[in-house]
Amino acid sequence: MLLDVRDLYVEFRTRDGIAKAVNGVNYSVSAGETLAVLGESGSGKSVTAQAIMGILDMPPGKITGGEIIFQGRDLLPLKEEERRKVRGAEMAMIFQDALSSLNPVLSVGDQLAEMFIVHRGMSKKDARAKAVELMDRVRIPGARERVGQYPHQFSGGMRQRIMIAMAMALEPALIIADEPTTALDVTVQAQVMELLAELQRELNMGLILITHDLGVVADVADKIAVMYAGRIVETAPVHEIYKAPAHPYTRGLLDSIPRLDQKGQELYAIKGLPPNLTAIPSGCPFHPRCPRAQDICHTDDPPLFRVSEERRSACHFWKETLRDA
Ligand SMILES: Nc1ncnc2c1ncn2[C@@H]1O[C@H](COP(=O)(O)OP(=O)(O)O)[C@@H](O)[C@H]1O
Ligand code: SF4
Ligand SMILES: [Mg+2]
Repeated sequence: MLLDVRDLYVEFRTRDGIAKAVNGVNYSVSAGETLAVLGESGSGKSVTAQAIMGILDMPPGKITGGEIIFQGRDLLPLKEEERRKVRGAEMAMIFQDALSSLNPVLSVGDQLAEMFIVHRGMSKKDARAKAVELMDRVRIPGARERVGQYPHQFSGGMRQRIMIAMAMALEPALIIADEPTTALDVTVQAQVMELLAELQRELNMGLILITHDLGVVADVADKIAVMYAGRIVETAPVHEIYKAPAHPYTRGLLDSIPRLDQKGQELYAIKGLPPNLTAIPSGCPFHPRCPRAQDICHTDDPPLFRVSEERRSACHFWKETLRDA
């Protein structure tokens, strides 16, 4: 196992009280495997990723429980200096917005070369050559000519390729991509996704792909973790989830994907809004929005029930949900 997140809790101190952003999250990723993390905005996907990377805003954030086992050791007790060594070299992150993640006053070549100078002790000349090689590898046309250009001189899609190049420069064991294509238009999205999947296969990296778009994950993910109110509510191999969700929230997400054969019809939307994390509903946190909710759902918080070998669902009525799928 490359990464094993165990019973992770993260809170934020806010003006309205303690926001419980992550509430007992468990997930794992092996080398060469892609885990897609799904859920509406505010479900704790990014905060979990930031805790893994060691880049949480602390304060106001605080990790109040759990372990993050990476390559066999728990990262949470490590000193910042040790965390920094892991970051970049062993695990790297790709963000949604390349423009604010890249340095605007350094050429992309210098930013890429810096990785090799700092972490690998390369000469400037060799590092520059590596930068061009990487730009080629993420298929930026005319890499040799463009290596001296600045981030704003590239299109959104090309900038996202540069981010991917930065992330994979040191061939990390794990990449976390947080909504990597959300800001791009649809055709470019597919190309960037394809590139990411291809590089992951080549380098046998573990990939955590965070997205609110179930449409993009079907082709690239091995398994899915669905998050709601800071918890995993369903986790399963990707084909099992698409065939039949075992949680009403997953059902709702699947039904919200636009389908070509339903053109013109109104798109389904899950009713209501995600909960306020300073006051998460009692019982099952999804009950105010759930079409299947019964009395027990208001009072009893469902554990992650075992649906099959590799599948769990935090719903009292997972059997019925599966049956009606
Ligand atoms: N810097 C912060 N300060 C205060 N609260 C935060 C901060 N970052 C995240 N949160 C809280 O954590 C919740 C989950 O955020 P996040 O993980 O970013 O959601 P998403 O699933 O959209 O990635 C937010 O709704 C917010 O309540
Ligand atoms: S436990 Fe109840 S409220 Fe929660 S998802 Fe299942 S049916 Fe809906
Ligand atoms: Mg996010």
